[in-house]
Amino acid sequence: MAILDKIVALAKRRGFVYPGSELYGGIGGFWDYGPNGVELANNIKRSWWQAMVHDREDVVGLDSAIIMNPKVWEASGHVSSFTDPLTECKVCHQRFRADQPDEIEAHTDKHRHEGQKSVAWTEARQFNLLFRTFVGPVEDNSSLAYLRGETCQGIYVNFLNVLSSMRVRVPFGIAQIGKAFRNEVTPGKYLFRVREFEQMELEFFVHPREATERFTYWKEERLRWHLSLGLQKDHVRFRQHESTERAHYAADSWDIEYDYPEWGWKELEGIANRTDYDLKTHGKWSGKDLSYSDPLTNERYIPFVIEPSVGVSRLFLALLIDAYKEDDKRAFLQLKPSLAPVTAAIFPLVANKPQLVEKARSVYHFLKKHFVVGWDDRGNIGKRYLAQDEIGTPWCVTVDYDTLKDDTVTVRDRDTTKQERVSIDRLKEYIGAKL
Ligand code: GAP
Repeated sequence: MAILDKIVALAKRRGFVYPGSELYGGIGGFWDYGPNGVELANNIKRSWWQAMVHDREDVVGLDSAIIMNPKVWEASGHVSSFTDPLTECKVCHQRFRADQPDEIEAHTDKHRHEGQKSVAWTEARQFNLLFRTFVGPVEDNSSLAYLRGETCQGIYVNFLNVLSSMRVRVPFGIAQIGKAFRNEVTPGKYLFRVREFEQMELEFFVHPREATERFTYWKEERLRWHLSLGLQKDHVRFRQHESTERAHYAADSWDIEYDYPEWGWKELEGIANRTDYDLKTHGKWSGKDLSYSDPLTNERYIPFVIEPSVGVSRLFLALLIDAYKEDDKRAFLQLKPSLAPVTAAIFPLVANKPQLVEKARSVYHFLKKHFVVGWDDRGNIGKRYLAQDEIGTPWCVTVDYDTLKDDTVTVRDRDTTKQERVSIDRLKEYIGAKL
């Protein structure tokens, strides 16, 4: 079985990711995060927020509405040009992105293997990715609105609000984590290209003359963060966009790419120098002055924007892939402990001895005040270990007959499978220190 198939199966079996609306046959490009998936995703987002907002003095946070005045999307250029080239297979009428040669080739090969001699494609036409909806009870052009295609537009339209309500001075950044929606022509590659996803975006406002220096700084900073989550150094790299592939607003764009098995190097995070394009266009369309006046020099200018932007699901998938380990005895997720959905799982050795269960419950309730802990009293201990290994739980704590005598428990390490006897009154410090 290919590694990705194993990960998809594990993610479903262990409550990380389920196909969206599976009960009704699913819906392409939408996935649901199960109990363990939502913990992992929250830990990723928490780590990003910590690094990008709380650990810094020059970034503030924001949570803007998903649905905005449709003029936002006209001004940003999304209504006219947030498009992908769409081509249709003339054999089966399935549609694909014309700019993804590997997918076109794979589909063409599939038909050839089925015995089709010639596989033709329609001329590519542009397809707009914005999801449309209507605000209020009347469904016509006057109530048309869009689900946001990227979170950063909510930051630009709040630039003045943040400037006037917070004690910030350029250079500074506004960070946001939130849902984005794209009606992708070909969602696929599991969580890689989906239609509903979360973005973690920073818009960092700088003086135009400092843009290049800040751009270099953020590139390095973002790579450092990915490595700090445990991604392997040789699985990530930078790639600069060719001028032909750069978005219309960008003067320079680099991707941090991840080497996904089967698909190869693909974009994990994009870092762009968006110049003054966004503030300038929103200024023009709204009729408001979005320039900044430097209180020290009195210079007035429109700041440039440096934007690192990463999708939670792409990173979630990369982390699962990097963490997945197997040997002849077991499969386990070697997640960084602070990212793991469960920090410690508590087991009574057997479930039918009330004294053991009661003692284990007291350990469980005590640790629950400090960490995310799980409970399992089903089956034998070996099977419980295997289940926790697949969730990536770094430590399993077993309460046994000796616990009743000496108040110690067995702590089993996920990575080494080594077991250690630890006294209950040291357990919190023991786990805390390793975490
Ligand atoms: N504001 C800039 C922007 O949205 P982008 O390169 O289109 O730029 C940024 O998207 C990041 O969002 C990507 O690097 C990727 O991690 C994530 N992303 C974009 N489209 C996605 C999709 N269809 N499914 C999952 N993640 C996606």
